Amino acid sequence: MAALAACRTACDAPVAVLRAVADDMQSAMRVGLAADGQQLRMLPTFVTRLPSGAERGSWYALDLGGTNFRVLRAQLGEAAGEVTRVESCEVAIPAPLLRGRCAELFAFIAQRVVAFTGPEADGALGFTFSFACAQEGLDSGKLLVWTKGFALLDGPGLDVVHLLRTALYDAGSRMRVAVLANDTVGTLAAAHYADPAARVAVILGTGTNAAYLERCSRVAKWPLASSSDSVVINIEWGALAAPSLPRLAADQTVDEQSVNRGEQTFEKMIAGMYLGKIAALTLLQMDAESGELFTASQREALLGGGLSTPLLSQLDNAADSAQERSALASALGSAPSDAALAAAKEVCHLVTRRAARLAAAAIYAVLTHSDAASTIGGTPPIVAVDGGLFEHHAAFAATLREAVAELGANAVLRLTVDGSGIGAALLAAAAQVA
Ligand code: BGC
Repeated sequence: MAALAACRTACDAPVAVLRAVADDMQSAMRVGLAADGQQLRMLPTFVTRLPSGAERGSWYALDLGGTNFRVLRAQLGEAAGEVTRVESCEVAIPAPLLRGRCAELFAFIAQRVVAFTGPEADGALGFTFSFACAQEGLDSGKLLVWTKGFALLDGPGLDVVHLLRTALYDAGSRMRVAVLANDTVGTLAAAHYADPAARVAVILGTGTNAAYLERCSRVAKWPLASSSDSVVINIEWGALAAPSLPRLAADQTVDEQSVNRGEQTFEKMIAGMYLGKIAALTLLQMDAESGELFTASQREALLGGGLSTPLLSQLDNAADSAQERSALASALGSAPSDAALAAAKEVCHLVTRRAARLAAAAIYAVLTHSDAASTIGGTPPIVAVDGGLFEHHAAFAATLREAVAELGANAVLRLTVDGSGIGAALLAAAAQVA
């Protein structure tokens, strides 16, 4: 079958392909550090000091990056690097607010923040906002572009901290928004607070991205580069669109059907939001060639919902159990044939493999790009990783670790759960101390 053969070839992603992707990623990183508006945005975050472990007290954060947001209060302990208590509440954003205007969305969020903190609270709050923003300071940033299926009527060009401050004020809150942080930056802050060997943070979830500590002397485009030694750079690596990327016909379709056509090529090959769709489209291609893999209603189901990432992860293993058959049956609406189950298992495995190996190439590119991101006094750097793909998809995490080692990178990949919110609270604390 031509579709399966093409999928096997592209998803194998041998080490030579990974090196070519890493080279392309590094060139794009260099170009992005030199000038604004490049494919990789390489955004200076104004974070020049990561939490040291010495911060104390109780700090708030708002974490917005998906269809749920979280408000939390982190209590920092007396021992260095210790978070003694985290209280939080998670709120689902009503669907209509995701298709409306930012002011309405932020008004809803602010009300929930006040419900959590109480109207009297007047502490500092770190704002994790998991989209690309051009920052002009630690506490301001204009949204550049929505990703991950967000399609509000406005946003790009607006200062999201200003939106939040206005909404909090209108909701009667006295909280102070002290820091704006991408989720990668929050994760890096949380990981660094616990262990200063953390130099890179990666998100592998609904979307994908990374941040790392860069030497200011290498950030030619940043006017404040001379004022400190290093600064955290938000790479926004999901935007990479290099010829070396081993693409499938399904990638093209995923892009055409997305709300951000032509953008986030790398993210659309790797992130949890897209993998099930790539697998479903590839299976449909195989079905079109053989004409006998699925029934008409199963085809409809694949076209409609694709396959979910949890199902992808369930099917991606060597065993062939009754549970897998019934999980696939519930996604398809009826029992799959033996051939369909075997095809689904192989395609899910291949699509996951490609994603994990490409993510490894990107991590390798970051680690070898900057000495600030790599070895410190002989200790291998820690790459803090958060996101559902890495946390819940065992085959993905194993393949990623294997490929990072195969590329020869000397680094420890450490799961840092919920770092993005806690990290923003820590950055608010660190900004206070500075
Ligand atoms: C966004 C990044 C974010 C990543 C992970 C991407 O779509 O552009 O800012 O860090 O998703 O949440």
